[in-house]
Amino acid sequence: MIKLIYFFIFSSIFTSVITLDSIQFHKLTSRDDLTPQYLTQKLDHFNPLDTRTFQQQYYADGTHWTDHSGPVFVYICGEAPMGGPAGGFVSVLAEQNNALVLSLEHRYYGKSQPFTDYTTANLTWLTVEQELVDLAEFIQFYQKEITSNYGIEGNPFFIIGGSYSGALSAWFRLKFPHLVKGSLASSGVVNPVLEFVDFDLQIANSSGIECADVLREVVQKIDVELDASSERNKAVKEHFDATTVDDGSFRYYIADAMSLPVQYSKHSAVCDPMIKAKNDGSDLILAFADYCKDFFFKVMKTTAVQYSDDYMKITKTDTTGKAIAQRTWWWQKCSQLAYFQIAPQTNPIRSPKITLDWHKQKCSTVYGSGIWPNTQAIIDEFGSNEIKGTNIFFTNGANDPWQWCAVRHHLGISEQAHVIQGDEDHDSGHCIDLHTPKEDDPPDLQFARAQISTFVYQWIHA
Ligand SMILES: *[C@@H]1O[C@H](CO)[C@@H](O)[C@H](O)[C@H]1NC(C)=O
Ligand SMILES: *[C@@H]1O[C@H](CO)[C@@H](O)[C@H](O)[C@H]1NC(C)=O
Repeated sequence: MIKLIYFFIFSSIFTSVITLDSIQFHKLTSRDDLTPQYLTQKLDHFNPLDTRTFQQQYYADGTHWTDHSGPVFVYICGEAPMGGPAGGFVSVLAEQNNALVLSLEHRYYGKSQPFTDYTTANLTWLTVEQELVDLAEFIQFYQKEITSNYGIEGNPFFIIGGSYSGALSAWFRLKFPHLVKGSLASSGVVNPVLEFVDFDLQIANSSGIECADVLREVVQKIDVELDASSERNKAVKEHFDATTVDDGSFRYYIADAMSLPVQYSKHSAVCDPMIKAKNDGSDLILAFADYCKDFFFKVMKTTAVQYSDDYMKITKTDTTGKAIAQRTWWWQKCSQLAYFQIAPQTNPIRSPKITLDWHKQKCSTVYGSGIWPNTQAIIDEFGSNEIKGTNIFFTNGANDPWQWCAVRHHLGISEQAHVIQGDEDHDSGHCIDLHTPKEDDPPDLQFARAQISTFVYQWIHA
């Protein structure tokens, strides 16, 4: 049997549950002793007749805030429960600038839940636009707190996010330039690509030719079993504890299980055991099932069942918000953001049955007929990866499949971009720059962080 060694760089810092397809995951905890606090927010910022409110969770970490007139960093948590106050590189930046660090949980995730029942009707106010106003309200509220406690006005605020919240960070600076001095958009997915084939292509590239071929082979074998007979369909799912999962969602689970280690800078976690199984002549499906049990389930805390249509139709929230995060994130995809990871026409890794039509079906099945994103509206609203903002730093990892809906080139002197290269021993994946800096980090990662530090300092003092 295959034994995996977990020296996964994120096992230490990412212990929170990730949402499944997922682009957000950081628990960048610097301090566990902080008490979460709550802010009352309006449910609907755009309708004066609707006076309903909810409690939005945040942390304030003043470890490095030596001067109360100093900067305030706002870290945006994305599509998952907030695992704790922001740490990692955000703490390093705070130390460099003697900044206060605020972390805000995203509405409808974790403890920041307006409802206990997430019917489609109740998801109406889970939009990018509402969240951006939450952030604007939060910043103004906190400035008032500082003023009333310390008599100081006009602190320089700076906004930071990674992945979906990296996009929010850039969009926030674009829409509310009077509230923040600038933005760090790590792996900021500002382009809501509808048919996101580059995702699969980049997984193939980042895995390497040999690994990609084995991954394709196991996917083809699984597809054959799924379509062979109801007995064989059930038998193959049994290996993954997935007998109740519909075929389409099961295929997507398999694709995600292959993609996430690659996305998170550790393609060897899936590639090493699969290449070994291939060379040993072992059963590839069983080897992949072992990988899922030993690694994907344990480290990513994910099961196949959570991908199923039936599971995603469950509307009741639990107290942690974990169970529901899959439903809320897919709502954001199905109603606004897409990023639908479909199989390329030729030589896909994922099953060729993961098409745009499959996504369309999934959105309708889970949320109701006709639920489908108008990505052009988001592009019109924010400018996609030609976003015309100022004082924004965009970072990406050279091995990250999400870089293809982010900003990879400078858009001018005040919109910096850097695609971070890994080295022989380290992949450069999603939000790599936000991790806690380590001595053996690749030179280009160290360089990128130095660049970020320079610009953050410049912009908050501008
Ligand atoms: C919204 O959620 C509440 C519980 O939080 C529930 O009572 C209500 O029926 C839901 N409304 C709709 C329209 O689904
Ligand atoms: C990945 O892409 C790079 C840059 O285009 C290319 O040089 C390299 O050969 C590709 N590797 C694989 C395995 O496809």
